Amino acid sequence: MKNVGFIGWRGMVGSVLMQRMVEENDFSAIRPVFFSTSQLGQPAPAFGQHTGGTLQDAYSIDALKALDIIVTCQGGDYTNEIYPKLRESGWQGYWIDAASSLRMKDDAIIILDPVNQHVITNGLNNGIKTFVGGNCTVSLMLMSLGGLFAEDLVEWVSVATYQAASGGGARHMRELLAQMGALHHHVADQLADPASAILDIERKVTALSRSGELPVDNFGVPLAGSLIPWIDKQLDNGQSREEWKGQAETNKILNTAAPIPVDGLCVRIGALRCHSQAFTIKLKKDVSISGIEEMLAAHNPWAKVIPNDRDITMRELTPAAVTGTLTTPVGRLRKLNMGNDFLSAFTVGDQLLWGAAEPLRRLLRQLA
Ligand code: HSE
Repeated sequence: MKNVGFIGWRGMVGSVLMQRMVEENDFSAIRPVFFSTSQLGQPAPAFGQHTGGTLQDAYSIDALKALDIIVTCQGGDYTNEIYPKLRESGWQGYWIDAASSLRMKDDAIIILDPVNQHVITNGLNNGIKTFVGGNCTVSLMLMSLGGLFAEDLVEWVSVATYQAASGGGARHMRELLAQMGALHHHVADQLADPASAILDIERKVTALSRSGELPVDNFGVPLAGSLIPWIDKQLDNGQSREEWKGQAETNKILNTAAPIPVDGLCVRIGALRCHSQAFTIKLKKDVSISGIEEMLAAHNPWAKVIPNDRDITMRELTPAAVTGTLTTPVGRLRKLNMGNDFLSAFTVGDQLLWGAAEPLRRLLRQLA
């Protein structure tokens, strides 16, 4: 059995990973060692059948060197500090990472096995030892639209995203809910009175939103009742870093010979943990909608095609419906006025499952 070290298992992505590993009985296939950056020596958690032991020091290169596989959800700063030292020490084990730091390195593969198992298998055969989970929007796009890419039908993709608070982290989710609560509390009495004027209520809510009194330490501005059309850093070319990742990571995951252009606008909205995306896709040729639906549905077991029907779409193609599930539904499929080779699509996916934890646990399972 392989010795597998877990770092960052207590954070949000780490917790989802632990939960999924328990559900899939993954712990039966490995010998886990739990690390901490702050609480070494305290009792290790009990997952699966493993109990006992203590937390090891996540900064101890010697302790890490004893492992066959390391899985980290600790974040980019940890990776940047520890990974180079560990490799320099001669460690030859497998590093599986949720953070973005190593994603674009030549000797790292972005893992999304339902989409790029062939790339993963090739990498493993060629001695690649570093595997990184993709950006959540990119992974969720490819899970939903994988069939079109696999059939080499995509000339380019334009996207507008609707990204959940969880993409920023646990504190961002709390802040969104605190903002929502503060706004509601501010007008709760008037709301309870059916005779009150809605525009008075709106004015009070807007005034509070602009007052500087809402908690905004994490988002920087109010998100509740609003949105933020910028995610991650500003690049020199006018893109946000999140927008830049769309093309860079898609093409790396697919290992395309000629890059497929992917670009658009990434927007933070007040959903909790599901990212949604609206696509305009330029197809390389005109394919019927029924043909497209078949390709998408057949690509992987999680890509569920939602018929372009109002009631079903409202019930099944929303963050509220998809949160906490592994399904990556795709709907609103229709040809646009621009021509028969222009397709619209809308996808929704849980940002913490296929967008973060699931590809990591599935690669670990392969290696174990
Ligand atoms: N960068 C993403 C977001 C999450 O902020 O929503 C992680 O891939």
